[in-house]
Amino acid sequence: MAVRKQVLVIHGPNLNLLGKREVQIYGKTGLAAIDNHLKELGRQLEVEVETFQSNHEGAIVDRIQAAIGVIQGLIINPAAYTHTSIAIRDAILALDVPSIEVHLSNIHGRENFRHNSMIADVVKGRISGLGPLGYELALRAMAVLLG
Ligand code: DQA
Repeated sequence: MAVRKQVLVIHGPNLNLLGKREVQIYGKTGLAAIDNHLKELGRQLEVEVETFQSNHEGAIVDRIQAAIGVIQGLIINPAAYTHTSIAIRDAILALDVPSIEVHLSNIHGRENFRHNSMIADVVKGRISGLGPLGYELALRAMAVLLG
């Protein structure tokens, strides 16, 4: 039996508050529902999905480093760290697997400081503004990329 490809999904700061936080922007779906849906979809797509959320930049860097040589694809919503974190960018470069950047909201339709992404040019693709559906589309795309 073929070994399943492993995909890591990382959620950055404040995404643990999804469903309670600024629902007019981020919607009513909680993070556990998003993660459970991705794991279920992973079973259908025959990829192993692991999820991780942290409010701490260093913990996200540590999680990416621990995935080096272990996972084949990364889906990441760095949340506010999208706009600031060279450390997460460097960790993604070190990981060196196809990565997809996801944002629930359309970061280009919001404040100017959200328009910049420190990881935009090091990821394979980006999805922004489609709410939780963005994660699902990212996982479907990743399954195709990993073939
Ligand atoms: C976000 C957009 C970021 O600007 C913001 O800081 C977040 C969430 C999104 O998913 O839309 O926390 O990454």
